[in-house]
Amino acid sequence: MNVRDSEATEAMLTAAGHTRAVTEAEADLVIVNSCSVRGKAEDKAIGKLGLLCATKRERPNRIVGLMGCMAQRLGSNIFKKVPRLDFSVGTRRCGAIPRMVSRIIAGESHITEISSPDEIPDVPDAHLEQGFSAFVTILLGCNRRCTYCIVPDVRGPEFSRPAREIIAEISTLAHHGIKEITLLGQSVMNYGMANRAWLDDDPASAHGFTEPFSRLLEAVAAIPEIIRIRFTSGHPSGCTNELVRAVSLFPKICHHLHLPVQSGSDAILAAMRRGYARADYLDAVRRLRAVMPDFALTTDVIVGFPGETTEDFEETRRLMNQADFDNAFIFKYSPRPGTPAASLKDDVAMYEKMRRNQLLLADQDIRGEAANQRLVGSLQEVLVEGPSLRNATRWAGRSPGNKIVVFTPVAGILPGTLVNVRITRVAPQTLYGEVLQKNG
Ligand code: 5AD
Ligand code: SF4
Repeated sequence: MNVRDSEATEAMLTAAGHTRAVTEAEADLVIVNSCSVRGKAEDKAIGKLGLLCATKRERPNRIVGLMGCMAQRLGSNIFKKVPRLDFSVGTRRCGAIPRMVSRIIAGESHITEISSPDEIPDVPDAHLEQGFSAFVTILLGCNRRCTYCIVPDVRGPEFSRPAREIIAEISTLAHHGIKEITLLGQSVMNYGMANRAWLDDDPASAHGFTEPFSRLLEAVAAIPEIIRIRFTSGHPSGCTNELVRAVSLFPKICHHLHLPVQSGSDAILAAMRRGYARADYLDAVRRLRAVMPDFALTTDVIVGFPGETTEDFEETRRLMNQADFDNAFIFKYSPRPGTPAASLKDDVAMYEKMRRNQLLLADQDIRGEAANQRLVGSLQEVLVEGPSLRNATRWAGRSPGNKIVVFTPVAGILPGTLVNVRITRVAPQTLYGEVLQKNG
């Protein structure tokens, strides 16, 4: 989400006549895009803002701004923490940034634009012209209210952008050479549930889909220049039979999903108010892989949630093995102000959180390596990006499971097309192979 918002901001500022500095040191304007999901992320943003504002002593005209979740959360209180900050803009007002920069240049100071939680967001559709992949935000905010999570407070309630607006944005991107689209939302399969995203005169589904997210996938798949579709993040409740049918029906949709599990213990899942039990999660995994055996899954896990016992933790370890994740992001629980879990005792000691974190990472390394090993000899459809960063005599691209694939280029292969690569060897983060045939 933040990567997409930063990109849109850069594109809007470029359209307003600004140019990108090569290094941070030479930039006249620096905007920090902040995350509030854990305390550490906020501490880092405050530290960075302090350093940037200190450079104003030598460069009084330098402008420093803040955007994103922490800006939204703190409102004008941010100026108490960072007095020399010029402006701060909340999550639903990203589109206001170029105007705010002009006001600062004109001599104003300490300006904030913070949205009310239920305001219709101002979603900039500006994109940078680079590469073959683009993120498209389809759903903002979140209505779930997991007890540990600050996102609903800082990104507001769910709002689905009208399908027409999304299709128009993707068609424009396709026109400009984009081949791969990643649809973004906190719980992306909730698309069109909280507010109507389809209008009465929009066309009906050709495949009989009734759920808004499957209809949207169908509409995006119908754009000929788009050859790959991804979406993130998922929630097991969204893995409906219709969704499984849509993903398996359209070859353009990658067999990969980021499906945060958070915990493998029913007691902890209930305390987190995740809305599913471990059996429901594993059932979603089973139904996806029953139809698509190659389906790659990545996840998020929180260790050390209040009351998490070693037995709860072992349940998480077991679930991670059963779900056979391709990759996992592990987070140490951090109480967030105002969330329901913040009133519980943060009773798992820091060293124990660290120990659990290390164990899950070590497990995941072993599992990830085994998953990669299984790909040796397989054929992977790769979206070609171009010469590899490390070694320009090799080319690189990504597999449907989102792994980097490095291969020897052959005549006639162009960046932005699909090629089949036979995998010959693997490293922890990379697959290596040879091109088999051109097919896209
Ligand atoms: N403490 C630790 N991790 C958290 N996450 C969200 N809130 C917290 C918290 N309070 C993690 C979840 C989520 C990811 C983006 O951040 O795993 O999926
Ligand atoms: Fe936070 Fe839960 Fe919403 Fe994800 S689904 S953003 S964890 S409240």
